[in-house]
Amino acid sequence: MGNKISVGLLGFGVVGSGVMQIIENNQAELIHQLGTEVHVKSILVRNPAKSRNVDLDRTRITTDPEIILNDPEIDVIIEVMGGIDEAREHILKAFSAKKHVVTANKDLVALHGPELQEAANQNKCDFFYEASVAGGIPILRGITGGLSADRIQQVMGIVNGTTNYILTKMANEGMPYEDALQEAQELGFAEADPTSDVEGLDAARKMAILGRLAFSTDIELEEVEVSGIKNLALEDLQYGDQLGYTMKLIGFAKCHDKEVEVSVEPTLLSKEHPLADVKNEYNAVYVYGEAVGETMFYGPGAGSLPTATAVMSDVVEVIRNVRLGVNGNIVTEPRFKKELKTPDHRFGQYYLRLHVKDEAGVFSTISSLFHELDISFKRILQNPIKKHEVAEIVLVTHQTSLGNFNKALNQLESLHDVLDVKSYYKVEGDVEHVAGTTETL
Ligand code: NDP
Ligand code: HSE
Repeated sequence: MGNKISVGLLGFGVVGSGVMQIIENNQAELIHQLGTEVHVKSILVRNPAKSRNVDLDRTRITTDPEIILNDPEIDVIIEVMGGIDEAREHILKAFSAKKHVVTANKDLVALHGPELQEAANQNKCDFFYEASVAGGIPILRGITGGLSADRIQQVMGIVNGTTNYILTKMANEGMPYEDALQEAQELGFAEADPTSDVEGLDAARKMAILGRLAFSTDIELEEVEVSGIKNLALEDLQYGDQLGYTMKLIGFAKCHDKEVEVSVEPTLLSKEHPLADVKNEYNAVYVYGEAVGETMFYGPGAGSLPTATAVMSDVVEVIRNVRLGVNGNIVTEPRFKKELKTPDHRFGQYYLRLHVKDEAGVFSTISSLFHELDISFKRILQNPIKKHEVAEIVLVTHQTSLGNFNKALNQLESLHDVLDVKSYYKVEGDVEHVAGTTETL
């Protein structure tokens, strides 16, 4: 390694230009850490004529990836162009050419991470992707470094800024969903096609990556159960609020006795839970380790400079490894062969909103149905809205298996007195007694 490390940037958009800014503005810090200068030699873009918000010597820009991938002077490739197929191809070529790769591309890592890691190891190259989960929060290194000696049992995260922004605006300002989404798009948090944000897929990709690293086992993207926030009703946020909960899109990854579950779902979170105060576009990841107990990592989950900071932390790691001659040493063997938890092994509390006939005896029928399935109620809302002989009932269950809760839902739908199962959500965390609700034991 000489007195200069040359990197090639694939992409010069929001994240790529942030990377350039950090390299240019923080060169003294990098030299202090690494004893060498970091220099961006070439940059791949789609449209070389586009105006850029960073001053740039245009001779470094190219539209030909081969110029970068075949340049023997370039040691590190930073992939911040996004997309899947082309990015994967470029990264595989980079490894064949013995170049280390850093990426922010969660879509790619969630789908092809294990394959790319294997290719990196075979070529004795590093492959790092800190920026792919929760932008500027150093959560992957927190898990694989800081907590590496612990047995992590649970990871819960607010890992999508767009949905957290929408839910915060809906809950705090009563802003309609569409308006809040539009604001998130204007502020630049949302993906080009925000469907993957609001339908939970972006969070699912991040949770697949987190789950793999937290439990050191293989988790495929299609094993993550996903539901998004698109069809949330304002009433459920309001009832949740009345009951002591706040609605958040939460990614869960849990591991117990080699049984794993990973999901992303709108969840009514106790206002006392550490994640409940995470507002607007901010992200946070709560990690429970057997030895360490509760930890929480909080910060900006997106944006040019925060994400670029995470990218550059990977570049620094690569260069340190080059100095030590230890690149391409990530363990790829899963620690154990996992099983996915069946619904009977998945436990939680649930919120349920029903429309029922406004007649005597209806609640007792519903209670018996739940009782037979061994599900008890923790809270019942006492002030249902009544109109046209329809009553609205809101219930929160005690802990039950998902299997039994699903059976209850099926049976409720066939009850003559139940007109509509309006909504149901997972509930997480305890709340103190709330005025206006009935608490049951
Ligand atoms: P942008 O759309 O802002 O930038 C993409 C860049 O890549 C552009 O410079 C574009 O060129 C170039 N590019 C895209 N496709 C090609 C291609 N086929 N050939 C050549 N150049 C191409 O994306 P972001 O910077 O926002 O995101 C980059 C990556 O980082 C994505 O994987 C994203 O998921 C991830 N990420 C982004 C975060 C964020 O806050 N934005 C946060 C965390 C991760 P041109 O400029 O000419 O159009
Ligand atoms: N669209 C993503 C979000 C960007 O809203 O969190 C960061 O991955």
